[in-house]
Amino acid sequence: MKPNDRPARPYFSSGPCAKPPGWSPDQLDTRVLGRSHRSGLGKQRLALAIELMRELLELPDTHRIGIVPGSDTGAFEMAMWTMLGARGVTTLAWESFGEGWVTDAVKQLKLDPTVIRADYGALPDLAAVDWSTDVLFTWNGTTSGVRVPDAEWIPATREGLSFADATSAVFAYPIDWAKIDVATFSWQKVLGGEGGHGVLVLGPRAVERLESYTPARPLPKLFRLTSGGKLNEGVFKGETINTPSMLAVEDAIFALEWAKSIGGLDALVARSNANAAALGKIVDERPWLGQLAADPASRSTTSVCLTLAGADSARIKAIAKLLEAEGVAYDIASYRDAPPGLRIWCGATVDSADVKALGPWLDWAWEMTRAS
Ligand SMILES: Cc1ncc(COP(=O)(O)O)c(C=O)c1O
Repeated sequence: MKPNDRPARPYFSSGPCAKPPGWSPDQLDTRVLGRSHRSGLGKQRLALAIELMRELLELPDTHRIGIVPGSDTGAFEMAMWTMLGARGVTTLAWESFGEGWVTDAVKQLKLDPTVIRADYGALPDLAAVDWSTDVLFTWNGTTSGVRVPDAEWIPATREGLSFADATSAVFAYPIDWAKIDVATFSWQKVLGGEGGHGVLVLGPRAVERLESYTPARPLPKLFRLTSGGKLNEGVFKGETINTPSMLAVEDAIFALEWAKSIGGLDALVARSNANAAALGKIVDERPWLGQLAADPASRSTTSVCLTLAGADSARIKAIAKLLEAEGVAYDIASYRDAPPGLRIWCGATVDSADVKALGPWLDWAWEMTRAS
């Protein structure tokens, strides 16, 4: 039987993710649209976005934060292209996005990194990392639902730099910024903002690298963070490298102000934890559902990946299609390179009641797609 209760907001995509509760386009401040991003107002709005991010991430004064082009990919590749090559490199990969940075390091930058891998669902041996090298990792592997448990495995004193692709992690986990030299993310994940822009966080040692090391490779203007051997500080005050979408910026400000209004970082983390717990309960109650991430300590509370006993990708597709057609869950089939399963976003912009309402619908779709 078809369940009666429907999630009020069926948005469970892992990016772009659900808009914050209460969002609508007419809630956005549009005064700056049609104006130059270098106008007084434009600079003020960009600076406000930066200030709010700093406050909500609880970022210490030691770290800079700026808005850059190209979403998370742009921000992470900018960091790779400008800083890598000064010393050895280690890349960690346990799912598709981490694997993408390995490809960049090997095939594009032609570095010879040490690659430490694990299969979908597992975390590699973090203790095996050589911190005399620069280390690249994905804080939360969005396509496998496996994350690093914390930053304990990163030594306080390290020779190499730590580079964290933290796009589906920031605003969902507390981050020990002293352990992070470079972090990147995009507004489209936990904040429910828009893609297009990346955010780059630089610790003091990353700035030192930028100012002391000039890679022998050509750098497009979009990647240039220094001029005359000095950091371009303007980027971290809202003087963007090129023209940003001020509509995306206003949308991010809306999300950040929402986050602040509900209690900031702790409240965001709590919402994500509650959503993941609600989904965990649904999984525990059904023998045919499982968690792809085996170890609860490194299981994501944002991109939660589920296994469905014996279901092949055709059945998964059919389930996702049925639920989409019913308007109860959008975009929940697992990522194209990941094992067939469901991936249900549990970030802060999702409401727990909506996650809870999903359970009976999963039962229904499971029965509907059972081979007769
Ligand atoms: C871990 C991770 N890295 C990178 C990306 C790419 O992000 P973007 O499309 O914002 O550049 C994603 C997108 O889902 C991701 O989850």
